[in-house]
Amino acid sequence: MSEQQSQPSERNTNGTSSNGGSNNGHHNGSNGKGEQPSSQASSPPINPFAPRYAQIVGWGYHVPEKVITNFDLEKIVDTQDEWIRSRTGIEQRHVAASPSETSATLGIQAAKAALEVADIHPSKVDLIICATSSPEHIFPSTASIIQDGLGANNAGAFDLSAACSGFVYALSMARGHILAGDAEYVLVIGAETLSRIVDWTDRATCVLFGDGAGAVLVAASDVPGGITASVLGSDGSGADLLTVPAGGSAMPSSLETVSSGGHYIKMDGTAVFRFATRVMADATRQVLGKAGLGIEDVDLVIPHQANIRIIQNSVLKQLKIPEEKVFVNLQKYGNTSTASIPIALCEAIEAGKIHPGNNLVFVGFGAGLTWAACTIKWSVPVAKPDETWWRNTARQATYQAAAARSMWKRAIRRVYSQFPGESRWGGRKEENELG
Ligand code: ACO
Repeated sequence: MSEQQSQPSERNTNGTSSNGGSNNGHHNGSNGKGEQPSSQASSPPINPFAPRYAQIVGWGYHVPEKVITNFDLEKIVDTQDEWIRSRTGIEQRHVAASPSETSATLGIQAAKAALEVADIHPSKVDLIICATSSPEHIFPSTASIIQDGLGANNAGAFDLSAACSGFVYALSMARGHILAGDAEYVLVIGAETLSRIVDWTDRATCVLFGDGAGAVLVAASDVPGGITASVLGSDGSGADLLTVPAGGSAMPSSLETVSSGGHYIKMDGTAVFRFATRVMADATRQVLGKAGLGIEDVDLVIPHQANIRIIQNSVLKQLKIPEEKVFVNLQKYGNTSTASIPIALCEAIEAGKIHPGNNLVFVGFGAGLTWAACTIKWSVPVAKPDETWWRNTARQATYQAAAARSMWKRAIRRVYSQFPGESRWGGRKEENELG
């Protein structure tokens, strides 16, 4: 999709808005924090009375190369391909086998793909939200590491923790920022390396999860549609049903937490199954009501890809949405938590299942317990921009420059750290020189 196809809003001060034109004109010149980024010229302020919509204009995903099939799992735990397929629908999952593959590196690849589809430079992004259940660290946020990897120097960045519902929560946040006029472009990423927190000796959980990342770019637009409604829910009384108990303030890491497996996923599968089946149907009904749509208006549901029986019991049986209107790819990836819906969205687009004018529903559930659903009136063309030699080279150069800039900043910090900071430079000089 070209910049013109992505149709972000280009607003002027007299309340009218127009589409197309150069990408520079789309950006409001603000980094979402009320500061003018030094590298960009300021644009006219946003007209608060012009209608504003949050459109998904870019999408991408990335999964690690290594595939573990059910037959592979038969060799490490007491399980059978037949049991896993019939109880969950999963046939294989992708796993981050290399230590250099982390939630951030997968997220960066997915985000690059989304920016490529939208044909938007990383410097245009105002905000990066990374929904993840397997972050790089407690802090810094995985989103900040992704921001650095993309060279998205005008973006704020934070992680969102709502387990598998996180991606839909993050879409709702992105919509809010855009409708409030605080952002023109928001990158929403779901990125996971769950294989690092799965107990590979626990057959009840290790067969379920997989690694991967998916991303969408949400843009301000004056084209009606986009993310039209959302429903977010939580019931913390079920917090113990699905948890990684140790490593936080309630149970700090210790030799004992490590030896007792406290840093692995613990789950009451049957209770989560019951909750998920009920809440997926309820949340879908609620969000359709908010959007003023009926079940019959739905063109495609993209549910959280946890278990085929949850999808069958909720979306197909309770809501009576026909199978051909429900996208399922969990057989290939397993449950990739926050990444499952964006990966499925990308594959649904690739499969030709999404067209402008379609009404989509994303619905998920997860630890917390949490649930979330949103409706999307798909309003942009689904063709990728033509890949040219020049476009590809420019993109590679952008990311190489971002990596060089990041390395330079780290090197400068190392040099300054050799000096007594406050007394030698008065503190601020170092930050100013880093830019
Ligand atoms: N292979 C073979 N047998 C197994 C396996 C396995 N991998 N796992 C469990 N079993 C056995 C059990 O031990 C049990 O044996 P028993 O009857 O002798 O005691 C039997 O299979 C049935 O076990 P159940 O747990 O009752 O199986 P169930 O049909 O409920 O399926 C499952 C289990 C797949 C985990 C299901 O409960 C489920 O999908 N729950 C939802 C989980 C989920 O979606 N979690 C992710 C939430 S999203 C997030 O936030 C991360």
